[in-house]
Amino acid sequence: MRDPVLDSATVISELKNFPGQSVTLRGWLYSKRSGGKIVFMLLRDGTGICQCIVEASVDDAFALARELPQESSLEVTGEIRADDRAPGGYEMSVTGLKVIHKAEEYPITRKAHGIDFLMNHRHLWFRSKRPTAILRIRHKAINACRNYLDNKGFTLIDTPILTQGAGEDAQTLFPVDYFGEQAYLAQTGQLHVETACMALRKVYCFGPTFRAEKSKTRRHLTEFWMLEPEIAFAELDEVIELAEGLTCHVVQTVLAEHEEDLAVLGRDIEPLRKIEKPFPRITYQEAMDNLRSEKTKLWLEKELEREKGVLQGKVEELAALEKKLETVKKQFQKDKLNMQIHEVREAIHELEQDLASRPEHIKLAQSFEWGKDLGGSDETIISKQYDKPLFVTDYPRQVKAFYMKVSKDDPRLVRNVDMFAPEGYGEVIGGSQREDDIDVLMESIKSKDLDPGDYSWYLDLRRYGSVPHGGFGLGIERMLAWICGIKHVRETIPFPRLMGKMYG
Ligand code: 4AD
Ligand code: MG
Repeated sequence: MRDPVLDSATVISELKNFPGQSVTLRGWLYSKRSGGKIVFMLLRDGTGICQCIVEASVDDAFALARELPQESSLEVTGEIRADDRAPGGYEMSVTGLKVIHKAEEYPITRKAHGIDFLMNHRHLWFRSKRPTAILRIRHKAINACRNYLDNKGFTLIDTPILTQGAGEDAQTLFPVDYFGEQAYLAQTGQLHVETACMALRKVYCFGPTFRAEKSKTRRHLTEFWMLEPEIAFAELDEVIELAEGLTCHVVQTVLAEHEEDLAVLGRDIEPLRKIEKPFPRITYQEAMDNLRSEKTKLWLEKELEREKGVLQGKVEELAALEKKLETVKKQFQKDKLNMQIHEVREAIHELEQDLASRPEHIKLAQSFEWGKDLGGSDETIISKQYDKPLFVTDYPRQVKAFYMKVSKDDPRLVRNVDMFAPEGYGEVIGGSQREDDIDVLMESIKSKDLDPGDYSWYLDLRRYGSVPHGGFGLGIERMLAWICGIKHVRETIPFPRLMGKMYG
C-alpha cells in the first residue's frame, strides 16, 4: 500500500488504478531481454514486478536500457497498459529513464545457482522471488499469531535474552561472559513469562531463542524465533485447545492472503485447506505402538517402493530435458531449460539422500523402546500418517524438561504435548502443563542436575499463590517450513544461524 509521504512515486502494486495514464516508478532492474529494436525490462519495486518496454524510438532511454546491468536502480516513466500476459497484469511503455545507480555485474543471474551459492549471497538473494515470498509470509504468520492472542486478551511480555540458567536442556546453552560472570543466551522465554502469567493471567512472549544444538538437520537452527503463550488456571486440555486454534488461524490467514506467494514457492495448497479443528490426539504410548507395529512397517516399505518410482520418474524427466537442451537455439530458452535441469537434479539428489536413510529409519522405528524421546525420523513417520497436525501427549518424565507437571495417574509421565505438523514435518509446537507443586519441582530440578539456586525466583511462583498453569512454544521457522512446503528451515529466517555456519 502506498503511503503519500513515504512513497512519493507510484508503486507497482497500484498500477491497476492507472491504465492509460503516465506514471513514474522507482525500483531495481530485475531482469532484461533485448530484441533488435526493443528492450524488455522487468522492474521490481518491492511491491511487485512490472514489464517496462523501451522502444528504439525513445533514443536516450533505449541506449541506456541496452547497457544497464541487472539490479541497477532506476526511475522509469511511461504509460500504463493492461496486458494479461504481463507479470502482474500491467506493462509500461517507457518514455523516460533515469538511472539512480548503475550496478556492478550482479552475481545472481538468470543462470541456475546451487543453494550453497545462494545462501552465501543471502543479502542479495533476498531480492529474488522465492525469498521475498517467504519473507512476506513470515511477516503475515507472525502478525496472525500476535493478533490471535491479542484478541483473546493476552498481554505481550518481553523476556530477557541474557539469562542466568538453563530454561531447557543444559547441554545446549550458549555461554556469555557477563562482566566476569557466566550468563547464557535464552533458550526460551518461558520461565520469565510464567512469572508474568501470575500477574496478568494470560501472557505471551515472542523473541529470538538460542540453542547450541549440535544437529545438522533440516529442522535445527541455533537461533530461532519462538512464540510462547502461558495461561493461568489452565490444564493440558486448555493448552492444546489454544495451540489448535492458533495453528488454524495462522494457516487460514496465510492461505487467504498469500496464495500468490505460495504459488511462487510451488506449494500445493490442498493439504493446507484441510487444516481445521479438531486435530487428532494420541499419547506417547500410542505413538510408540504405532512405530513398532507390523502395519506401520508394511506401509513404510510400500512408501519406499512408491518413492523409488518417483525417483525413477525424475531421472527420466532429467534425461528428456537434457535431450531437449541440445535442440533449442535461443539463449533465453537455454537458460530456462538449464534452470529446470538444475531443479530436477536437486530434487533427485534430495530424494536419493532421503531414500538412502529410509531403511535405517524403519529399523529405528521398529526397535523403539519405551523411555526414549521420539527422534526426527520417528516424528516424520508418525506425522505422515495424518493429514492434520497431531497432538502427542504424556511423554516419559526422563526425556522432558524439569518444569513439566508430573502425571497424577502415572508418575513416570508428564502432562506435556508436542504438536507434529503433517506431511512429515514433525514437531512445530512443544508445551506442557507446569509443575505447580514446589516439592515435586525441586526434586525434578535436582534430578536433572540443575542448581536450585539458579531458580529461586521461579520457585517463588510455587510459594506465593501457586495455580495450575501451562503453555507452549511455537517455533516460527518450523511452522513456516511446513506452511510454505520448504524442506529446510534455513530459508524461513532472514539470516540463518546453523551449527558451524552463519549466513550474512
Ligand atoms: O520444545 P521446545 O524446546 O519447548 C520450549 O522451549 C518450551 N520452553 C516452550 C514452552 O512451553 N513455552 O521448543 C518449542 C518449539 C519446538 O516445537 C520447535 O518448533 C522450536 O521451538 N524449536 C526449534 N526450531 C528451530 N531450531 C531449533 N533448534 C529448535 N528447537 C526448538
Ligand atoms: Mg520440544
